[in-house]
Amino acid sequence: MTELYDGFGRRIDYLRISVTDRCNLRCVYCMPPDGVPWQPHADMLSYEEIVRVVTVAAELGIRKVRLTGGEPLVRRDITALVRAIAHISGIDDISLTTNGVLLDKLAAPLAEAGLTRVNISLDTLDPIKFRRLTRLGDIDRVWRGLEVAERAGLAPIKINAVIVRGVNDDELIDLARLTIDRAWHVRFIELMPVGNEGEWGAGFPAAPDRYCSINEMLERLAPLNLIRAEQPIGNGPARTYHIPGAQGTVGFISPLGDHFCVTCNRLRLTADGRLRSCLLHDVEVPVREALRSDDQIAPLIERAVALKPRSHDLLMADASVPQDRMMCQIGG
Ligand code: 5AD
Ligand code: SF4
Repeated sequence: MTELYDGFGRRIDYLRISVTDRCNLRCVYCMPPDGVPWQPHADMLSYEEIVRVVTVAAELGIRKVRLTGGEPLVRRDITALVRAIAHISGIDDISLTTNGVLLDKLAAPLAEAGLTRVNISLDTLDPIKFRRLTRLGDIDRVWRGLEVAERAGLAPIKINAVIVRGVNDDELIDLARLTIDRAWHVRFIELMPVGNEGEWGAGFPAAPDRYCSINEMLERLAPLNLIRAEQPIGNGPARTYHIPGAQGTVGFISPLGDHFCVTCNRLRLTADGRLRSCLLHDVEVPVREALRSDDQIAPLIERAVALKPRSHDLLMADASVPQDRMMCQIGG
């Protein structure tokens, strides 16, 4: 089978597809209260177009697909897209990153359509804090969604928690303890300087006070005696540990750390049809026009892979964050 390599010898076998920039929540770190100017529907790839990109990408060496957003479950009939991708020869893993709000209704049909697993974003266990952080969310629905997803066999279940100092850093231990009785994998994510960097509103810390590093998280989790663990399936750039005797694992993702780039195996497709080589670089190769004029897209995929930078530059002196897009338009 064909394999795809970038200029630094990294094998690229993972395509993250943002199916929409829209979302049914407004998490403070991601969006301003009124959302962002949504991309016009005409600019967004149709399911047929997405399936064509995945088919060609699979011929070139992509094996795993993740659907992201915005919130992927708000796009109409997302189950149909999952079913179509599941039928593409060469794709052996289809996952989805969701806020969980619509999972109570969709987890079972998605599993039936061929979805393998889900990552659910859950930053707090406190219903009131959850509402403040997401501005719109009802945590009980997310819990129901988690349970339905587990019953539907979408495993392993991963829970992503972005840790913000002064907001949910006091919940590190409680969140980690979710992994004791169930084979859930909690991953703590460092806040990235993309998304909503402005003021988040009353009661939230100012921008310079929000960042909490993984080293600090690990220190605060010391009472749990975490042990370094094997990576569960598809844990990507996470550094993984477990609580002694626990069924699940506790992972740490440092998007700004070096390790993140060394093992990077991914390519991204934005909802408006651009291949993006790196989460944190504004390097993009448009595919929508080629799709709509029936041109070859294999060379475009190869070009996007060839353009992958060795690493993002956020650790360098002249560091700059992406200017062209917000996080919800890239899909994390
Ligand atoms: N920093 C870190 N993670 C973020 N996410 C969204 N915005 C940010 C940010 N600024 C996460 C969400 C979700 C995933 C899609 O990306 O919490 O887990
Ligand atoms: Fe929506 Fe995810 Fe952004 Fe929250 S972080 S507003 S759930 S896209």
